[in-house]
Amino acid sequence: RFAYVNGSYVRHQEAAVHVEDRGYQFADGVYEVCEVRHGFIVDLRRHMDRLDRSLNELRIAWPMSRMALVQVIREVLRRNRVRNGLFYLQVTRGVARRDHVFPAKDTPPSIVVTAKRTDAAAIARKNAEGISAITVPENRWDRVDIKTVGLLPNVLARQRAREQGSQEAIFVDADGMVKEGAATNVWIVDGEGSLRTRPAEHGILRGITRTTLMEVAKTLGLKVEERAFSVEEMLAAREVFITAATSICFPVVAVDGRSIGNGHPGNIAQNIRDAFFAVAE
Ligand code: PDD
Repeated sequence: RFAYVNGSYVRHQEAAVHVEDRGYQFADGVYEVCEVRHGFIVDLRRHMDRLDRSLNELRIAWPMSRMALVQVIREVLRRNRVRNGLFYLQVTRGVARRDHVFPAKDTPPSIVVTAKRTDAAAIARKNAEGISAITVPENRWDRVDIKTVGLLPNVLARQRAREQGSQEAIFVDADGMVKEGAATNVWIVDGEGSLRTRPAEHGILRGITRTTLMEVAKTLGLKVEERAFSVEEMLAAREVFITAATSICFPVVAVDGRSIGNGHPGNIAQNIRDAFFAVAE
């Protein structure tokens, strides 16, 4: 396996950044994860637009032109022979002697790109069986709309889910309203078959899969409402599912040990998943 690190393609085992990288010391960086399917990068333009937004919000410079970055991504995919999988890219404010304030203006940002194949069997199993989730109180900062590498609350929440035999942790705000998963957006299907997901303006990441899925749902003639819902509404929903570039759409069949619907994956989530790749560019 190979990774791209600050200008070179290196063996994955030897791929490393400096101990004074600000990503390492301060989580002072941003990232993107994209799905690759049959050799195509799913929703590439939207991921690059979000990267641009994240960088601007944190005032980190682009490490290279957008076109050059896409070339690097394609080269990493090629060298790793990834036709179905993921790539990960991370940009940090660069390497400088530890100091909270920004380093000198000419400090180049650090850039890393890695790629891996996905485990198709594991994904198929999760789709066939569904996953379970737990709820956890929101304890993140209020700029989770920026895709930063500062993910400690997400890490702790996912680990708690794992220790309780679940695959995802769902953050819930102080009013008992669902926010999003540790690394996914959360959706419900109500009794009428309409989809609901929290508005992206209110304390969640605007997931690219979420955006594309809204378009997919419309092509299927489904109604989509961007409106917050409570944990109670989620427990009473006909279906619950989560979306992210890493999985597109997984049905959630239990939350906090309580069954959703009939306890089996629902067909709306399945239909959306099937239609997704016809719409995503
Ligand atoms: N996570 N919400 C959070 C907190 C996320 O970390 C992610 C993605 C999403 C879904 O966004 P998208 O559809 O653009 O992947 C929502 C990535 C996959 C990760 O951290 O691995």
